[in-house]
Amino acid sequence: MSVDAVLLNDWQGVARASDRAEGSVLAASLLGEELALWRAGGRVMAWRDRCAHRGTRLSLGTVTEGGELACAYHGWRYGEDGACVHIPAQPTVAPPAKARAKVFRAREAYGFIWVSLGEPARDVPPFPEWDDPTFRKVIAGPYEFHGNPYRTIENFTDVPHFPFVHPMLNADPDRPNVFEDFDPELPPSYREARHVFLANIAPQLQLSVLDQVEQPRLVALDTMNYWIEGSRDALVEVLGRIDILVINDEEARQLADEYNLVRAAETILAMGPSVIVIKRGEHGATAFLGDEVFTIPGYPLRELADPAGAGDSFAGGFMGHLVRSGEHGPEGLRRAIVAGSVMASFCVEEFSLGGIRDLDEDRIATRYRAFQALTRFGDL
Ligand code: FES
Repeated sequence: MSVDAVLLNDWQGVARASDRAEGSVLAASLLGEELALWRAGGRVMAWRDRCAHRGTRLSLGTVTEGGELACAYHGWRYGEDGACVHIPAQPTVAPPAKARAKVFRAREAYGFIWVSLGEPARDVPPFPEWDDPTFRKVIAGPYEFHGNPYRTIENFTDVPHFPFVHPMLNADPDRPNVFEDFDPELPPSYREARHVFLANIAPQLQLSVLDQVEQPRLVALDTMNYWIEGSRDALVEVLGRIDILVINDEEARQLADEYNLVRAAETILAMGPSVIVIKRGEHGATAFLGDEVFTIPGYPLRELADPAGAGDSFAGGFMGHLVRSGEHGPEGLRRAIVAGSVMASFCVEEFSLGGIRDLDEDRIATRYRAFQALTRFGDL
């Protein structure tokens, strides 16, 4: 079985601690690994659910009075370190060194048994709210689902969907702006930033962040239809203070109230930014760089697994290149737009972060050249 290294080396909650009384054994499953969970002497153990003798599930066994796990089939007994310490059929023979259970790291914390199948770099994450009496603990599930684990985690942290998918359960659809009372305060080192990317959030917050940056050299901004409709005045104010707007085609049309993208761009440029980059999904991107227009196609992909994150990865590649190169003129911007498109094309090829997590410079450079080749043609 192939398991993602991040999941393998992290801690996962596999059972409620209350399910495991002293001296009991429980079967559990983690990332395709069948586990036997047991507890003795106050310690919790997580072992591969397989006896070293004939492969019987150790979760069928029992915990002896001496704090060993005894297999249900022939009674081999294992100590806490996984080594077999007694073979009933050969009581006078020392068990062979290879007679061991596979032992994983296990911890009990926050009412759960946590297991890592790999080499965790740190302990179970801190969760101070657990001991805060003002928080109510609700333990739900377990639920079985067939889905990508990263998308599932992403969904749990995707707070803005709550009021619409779970109305009045944990959010109010008539008051969906969970950030409206959020007032970010930049740490001192951030205030010295020369390059600022104001990611897609309420324009009032973008303004607040921009106010705190002392001498920005280049400011770019992303926005969306929600803010164009609901916070237009603040959005127009922040547009007057930025250099580059990154926006998708439908939102550019909505912001400018103009379907034609050339005219829409002219309208938006008059609001303040000197550059507008219009993302056009699978059709690529078109940028209006002052008097110049630059356009590139979308990278032709055989498989498109997951469009989520394409816009953010574009912005990351775009800004990353501008920061790294220091070239903010038309040539630098053209290259930055291709760099953003390269990152977005990798992003959509796999679910969640799968497409960009293991990228290296060679693959990025190879795809950059592929973009160059897409639009290269000779003289007439
Ligand atoms: S299979 Fe476990 S003791 Fe024989």
